[in-house]
Amino acid sequence: MSASNSPASRLTIDYRNVMADAIGEEHGLTPAQLDAIAGKVASEHERITAEHDAGGQKWMDLPDDTALADRITAFAERARGQYRDYILIGIGGSSLGAIATIQALANPYRNLLPDEQRGGPRFFVLDNPDPEKMRATLDIVDLPNTLINVVTKSGQTAETMANFLVALEALDGAVGKEQARKQIVATTDPKEGLLRQLADEEGYETFPVPPGVDGRQTVLSAVGMIPAALCGVDIHGLLAGAAAMRERSKTPDLRRNPAYLLAALNYLADTERGKAMLVTMPYADALFGISDWFRQLWAESLGKRLSVSGEEVFAGQTPIKALGAIDQHSQIQLYTEGPNDKVISIIRAGEYRNQVAIAEPPASIGELAYLRGAELGQLIDREALATAWALTQARRPNYTITTPVIDAAAVGEFFFLYELQTVMAGALYGVDPFGQPGVEAGKNATYALMGRTGYESLRDELLAGAGADSPYIAAPKG
Ligand code: PA5
Repeated sequence: MSASNSPASRLTIDYRNVMADAIGEEHGLTPAQLDAIAGKVASEHERITAEHDAGGQKWMDLPDDTALADRITAFAERARGQYRDYILIGIGGSSLGAIATIQALANPYRNLLPDEQRGGPRFFVLDNPDPEKMRATLDIVDLPNTLINVVTKSGQTAETMANFLVALEALDGAVGKEQARKQIVATTDPKEGLLRQLADEEGYETFPVPPGVDGRQTVLSAVGMIPAALCGVDIHGLLAGAAAMRERSKTPDLRRNPAYLLAALNYLADTERGKAMLVTMPYADALFGISDWFRQLWAESLGKRLSVSGEEVFAGQTPIKALGAIDQHSQIQLYTEGPNDKVISIIRAGEYRNQVAIAEPPASIGELAYLRGAELGQLIDREALATAWALTQARRPNYTITTPVIDAAAVGEFFFLYELQTVMAGALYGVDPFGQPGVEAGKNATYALMGRTGYESLRDELLAGAGADSPYIAAPKG
């Protein structure tokens, strides 16, 4: 399926419970507020479109790269027959999209399936530089039959490069240097960076991280598509779904453009009604990874100190991930009765991929009779409806996004929807949604503390404040 004959978008957004009609004017939005922001949305749409036409906003073009998807499909077909294990090494935007895609579209116990049923290698992720996870991963994989995919846009992220060096040494030890380099594929900038340099020196197969696209928007590039294809995901379907959402989102009309509508609702709820947090709560385990991926996108894109004109604004709405129905037994008490400072975005699946009938309850336990003849998908979906109702009763703004099914096209739709929503929200907050200067500060401090050349003065500065004689350190007396 190519992007040009993509299916129509299928997501539905029900935002009645964000509106004042449902929850009152103190917490809900009015049609007049949406009308008032519609002009700004339309003019920002013109700006974004003009930037795209002039060669910017490159992330929007990723759904069109079906040639890359063909290359990745061919690569994955070979690799799926060849390897028993696959390790993705990358962090943040270099792994969250892949994890979300595979969680949504592969069997949740895929790694436990017998080789002949799994259809491709087992999937492991090394994102955190956690020595215990590294040791456990290297102990469990079959290194001579393992493909390592190191993914970093900058080519130098400390966590990724450290994890890669450890895994590489283990692979070298298991199969020898010559063979090891054939079992590595690097996804990185086509021209720049330390990983690019190493890949060229060692002759690794490489795939590009598209220049001009931030890490958190690369899910529809080789960054997300290689892991997805290795795990059997229909990556052309992903791109087609994203293209369908792009098509639907071409209108400047905020009530008809789902991405702009969500951007406006969240922005207004935050700035006009004090809803400084946004909870994304799918009622499907498969979609939980998407709320994790979105959490990074919303946080890193909007959480900015400076506006585009250089004023301090400290913008952003804190994204929270939750999972229905599990978090009804953990978080909903807080969301319903605690501070009224959140918007809750519920995600429903119209249809689950399996139907599981609830077995006949014992006749002696009459209180369970309500489960008679029901099935699990019906129960979890009614819980989504019940939660929306209960939140609304408590005057908590909530909206529901429904996908009729969970398939590759639907996941592609979510990715594009949330990416465009984020770009428009950045415009409404008046911040640049690209770049992540706050992340860079921590990265640089890590380099300094680890002794990287060129970071000496930052290291001195950091160590100068590290004295252990502070009255504000509570430690056991030694
Ligand atoms: O969105 C981003 O750009 C970041 O979250 C990066 O993805 C993350 O810091 C990892 O960077 P890199 O891909 O350069 O290793």
